[in-house]
Amino acid sequence: MLSIGRVTVASSLILAPMAGISDLPFRLLNRSFGCGLAFTEMISASSLVHRSKNTSKMLSTTTEDRPLGVQILGGDPEIIKRALELISEYAFDIIDFNAACPVKKVVSRGEGAGLLREPAKLQTLLKGMVENACVPVTAKIRSGWDEPSVNAVEIALRAEDAGVSGLFIHGRTKVQGYSGRVDYSIIREVKKSLKIPVIASGDALTPDLVKKLFDETGCDGVAVARGALGNPWIFRETAEHLRSGTVPRCPDGYEIAQTMRKHLALNIAFHGEKTGVMLFRKFFPWYTGAAVVKELKERAFRTETRDEMLRRIDEVSRPE
Ligand SMILES: Cc1cc2nc3c(=O)[nH]c(=O)nc-3n(C[C@H](O)[C@H](O)[C@H](O)COP(=O)(O)O)c2cc1C
Repeated sequence: MLSIGRVTVASSLILAPMAGISDLPFRLLNRSFGCGLAFTEMISASSLVHRSKNTSKMLSTTTEDRPLGVQILGGDPEIIKRALELISEYAFDIIDFNAACPVKKVVSRGEGAGLLREPAKLQTLLKGMVENACVPVTAKIRSGWDEPSVNAVEIALRAEDAGVSGLFIHGRTKVQGYSGRVDYSIIREVKKSLKIPVIASGDALTPDLVKKLFDETGCDGVAVARGALGNPWIFRETAEHLRSGTVPRCPDGYEIAQTMRKHLALNIAFHGEKTGVMLFRKFFPWYTGAAVVKELKERAFRTETRDEMLRRIDEVSRPE
């Protein structure tokens, strides 16, 4: 159990925000396997203010999709303030601020991980958010901009001072992106320095690696990102592994196919058939893994309708 401000989270295993992935169907599916808290993908404060059509889809949720955090990206205090006013119309439980995104066009605007180079500005932005938000605010950071300028402890202390209720830290620098070694020691140092909960992120790819994050950093929770792609069972398996220390049961072919059908159905219910099937295509190879022949994956990638995609799923569960 984990508490972020007044929000109680039943499991310390959290679904990390992922742009282009963390829509309502993906969140609901992962929740059904035990994830305790989920986030929307990052949403830019200025696109919120301009009420772009895409943004309203990103904000969509249901009563089963709780507790839920919305993640905001921005750098202008006035725009962020207006974005928070709009968000207050929705029932989010947490507002998370992204100071971790390494994408060039984001950091060049001084947003995302760009803010790691401006600790005082980040602190002021977070203070303003805490003052204007009606739910707990959290921050997502990286270990630093690059190896020589690792400053996560300073950033984390400033975030805590600004009044945030929890801190998410990806143990890689901006320059590392998503590759290279995860720095467990910087996450441990951050955890030791703060009173608020610290949630670790980075290579939470298997139950063993999630356990390693807990053991080596002392963190209060772990955010699972790439480990959940085509693998919502990671939440069930990791909970079992942490509880009993045993090697968890993997899903069999029948359960994989059933889960793929459920994911597809959720996608279609939310996005409509055309977009729902199209968005499901990228999950197909993640679910089926290396064992499935290339030709079958390529056929799935050309699939356009629900019935065809269901046939592709049948083919992987009963290969010819
Ligand atoms: C496709 C993709 C999209 C991501 N989008 C976001 C995002 O919108 N906001 C965010 O804070 N982090 C985002 N991340 C970073 C993850 O939340 C996580 O911190 C990172 O992948 C490290 O965890 P992992 O090594 O277990 O995948 C994204 C990662 C991936 C792979």
